[in-house]
Amino acid sequence: MVLDMPAAPVPRVFLGTFGYSDSEIEKEAIRLQYAIKQPMRWSIEICKSLAPLTLEINRLKKEKDVFLIAHSYQTPDITYGVADSVADSYALSKEARDAPQQTILFSSVRFMAETAKIVSPEKTVLHPSPDAGCSLSDSIEAGDVVRLKQENPGVPVVCYINTSAAVKAECDVCVTSSNYLRICERLPGDKLIFVPDKYMGRHLQQSLQGRKEVILYEGECEVHAEFTGPKIRNWKSSMAENGIDLMVLSHPECDSEVLEESDFVGSSELLMKEAIRLASVGKKDMMLITECGTADRVLAETEDNLNLMGACVMCRHMKKTQLEDILQALMDPTTDQIVDIPEDTIRRASRSLDEMFRLAE
Ligand code: 13P
Ligand code: SF4
Repeated sequence: MVLDMPAAPVPRVFLGTFGYSDSEIEKEAIRLQYAIKQPMRWSIEICKSLAPLTLEINRLKKEKDVFLIAHSYQTPDITYGVADSVADSYALSKEARDAPQQTILFSSVRFMAETAKIVSPEKTVLHPSPDAGCSLSDSIEAGDVVRLKQENPGVPVVCYINTSAAVKAECDVCVTSSNYLRICERLPGDKLIFVPDKYMGRHLQQSLQGRKEVILYEGECEVHAEFTGPKIRNWKSSMAENGIDLMVLSHPECDSEVLEESDFVGSSELLMKEAIRLASVGKKDMMLITECGTADRVLAETEDNLNLMGACVMCRHMKKTQLEDILQALMDPTTDQIVDIPEDTIRRASRSLDEMFRLAE
């Protein structure tokens, strides 16, 4: 379902104070509201009700020396209330790897928390919502990769980071939405297998045409699959009729017809940066063809009064995590909130991630 802006789910009310005083709560609420910068939706009353949670999470984080990272698609009370770092899947994998803290709490979907564990196996990785999946990650199993390798002996297998640890263990190199073109171009040979995103794979096929053959798999992101080329064309032309030069910024998990109509294609982080850059040079009318969290980040990160038009789609998996889940995982994690991957899988999967870090830099 394509939703109107603004983006986040309706903020909820939390009743409880954890012993914080009225003035501490008031001060924290003002901080939250200022950081999120959507005062209509994130009213001071809503922020006051969430303030005890963010205060308590931030206190526990310090006490237990936990590094809390959140993907851009998490809700703004998480990204601007409690996260130490917010970014795209590539940057967060590197930060998880390089963090000096021994415990990482990853507010996101399961494959991202698993990735953090693979790149830093000696650390404890907490994932507040163990059942937060991903339609791409769920579309493929290790056995599917084994079959593709048997059908195409010797052909390198490239897997998108949106895959389980077991799938990564069967692949040669992992990629993310910020480096798939660069890494696939740098791979030796004239053929590769790309799993599981068929749309990103088609974009690769077009970009590598005449140089490399790309064998595809049938997975898709249920969020980005909602957007279509004709819809984008319609939006652009109806805006043009009203004298508006609409900038369209899309995530590469979209269909190639959407990407062809787009002025910019990039990861969640790159889309945010490009939106802010466009606004700073006066191109303020734009559409973000991606998950709603990116719009929340743009609104929070710029003082420019930009005009974010129309559409975004919410990822039901990304939006599963709430402040209450984070607090609970920090206080007393359940067994399934502590990411646990068999040693052999970590060893094999880390090869594809190490290869990504090597080829991406
Ligand atoms: P990013 O690499 O842009 O963070 O994308 C991850 C993702 O799941 C997008 O849907
Ligand atoms: Fe997966 Fe799509 Fe959600 Fe990203 S937006 S986590 S690819 S379902």
